[in-house]
Amino acid sequence: MVKVLLTGGAGFIGSWMAEELVKRDYYVYVVDKLTYAGNLENIKTLLRNKNFSFIRGDINNKKLMKELFKKVDKVIHFAAETHIDRSLLNPDIFVKTDFLGTYTLLETLKNYPCERFIHISTSEVYGTALKIPINEDHPLNPQSPYAATKVGADRLCYAYYMTYNLPIIILRPFNIYGERQYPEKLIPFFITQALENKPLFIYGNGENTRDYLYVKDLCEVIVKFLEAPIEKYQGEVFNIGSGIEYSVNEIAFRILEYFKKPKNLVKYILDRKGHVKRLLCDNRKLEKTFNWQPTTNFEEGLEKTMKWYAENERWWKKIKRSKIFQRFYYLNYLKRK
Ligand SMILES: NC(=O)c1ccc[n+]([C@@H]2O[C@H](COP(=O)([O-])OP(=O)(O)OC[C@H]3O[C@@H](n4cnc5c(N)ncnc54)[C@H](O)[C@@H]3O)[C@@H](O)[C@H]2O)c1
Repeated sequence: MVKVLLTGGAGFIGSWMAEELVKRDYYVYVVDKLTYAGNLENIKTLLRNKNFSFIRGDINNKKLMKELFKKVDKVIHFAAETHIDRSLLNPDIFVKTDFLGTYTLLETLKNYPCERFIHISTSEVYGTALKIPINEDHPLNPQSPYAATKVGADRLCYAYYMTYNLPIIILRPFNIYGERQYPEKLIPFFITQALENKPLFIYGNGENTRDYLYVKDLCEVIVKFLEAPIEKYQGEVFNIGSGIEYSVNEIAFRILEYFKKPKNLVKYILDRKGHVKRLLCDNRKLEKTFNWQPTTNFEEGLEKTMKWYAENERWWKKIKRSKIFQRFYYLNYLKRK
């Protein structure tokens, strides 16, 4: 049985990945620090599975990483601080986790090699598109501390591949959405605000666009990279997105319409500093490699997501009532300067 280590597997995408792999008869180890964004409820159905182990721990813990790397065949590295707005308020932890944490994992990989290491980077590394759509050769112009530490991690992975010939693949997903995403992120934030009849805060004029892909589609692509011959893809970078963009305004009004809420719940506020205007994925490299197309279109994926949040109030209300969420809400939206 192939053993896979998922870092950050109690978060949004990592928990979907864990489910997908257990279903496909992998043995899955999840290591997660359980920061405010990590949630054992996300993996509660897996905790009793004989092919699943959860370890609470930090990717910066060298000793723990060594123990885990010695046990597994493959690693998928999701763990990160992931919210751009938080990186404007407190960049420190982003440098420690996203950059230095990745460095710790790469050093561990060098000393205790496994069969492959898949690094989950992000489209935010590109900054506002200079050329549409964005392919893998687009310049890296990070516009937030989050994006900059992810560029650092992404390029450090490449450097470890070049220097030590390590089996590393770098994936750059565009915006991912779906059930169980932490409600500070745009889609679940708007959905839960609408359900609570609270404002849908929009930065600037709301015309910024992003490329959205449903989380299950992303996990299915990652499985392909987990199983493809490593010699063909090591050192390569792949974009993963839908190739279709939506503006913040479009998303907000679709959500309000679905829940039959008034349009005046939308509140335009001061733009985010360094806000990326446009990200649209050029998927051609991925399509050519795996003959891949997303299977869930945005209408379908958004509806599934909206239904899930409407039916799982307990999950997100607990988060939204927490001090850490309330404090962020206050600093980012109510006290915004
Ligand atoms: N969600 C998106 O739209 C998106 C898009 C592109 C790339 N990504 C990347 O995908 C990955 C996962 O994103 P997500 O949306 O699931 O994020 P998330 O915030 O939901 O989950 C991150 C997880 O990492 C864990 N973590 C944080 N610091 C840790 C540490 N030091 N040690 C161990 N665990 C730690 C958290 O507890 C949490 O469970 C990230 O690397 C992110 O940059 C996300």
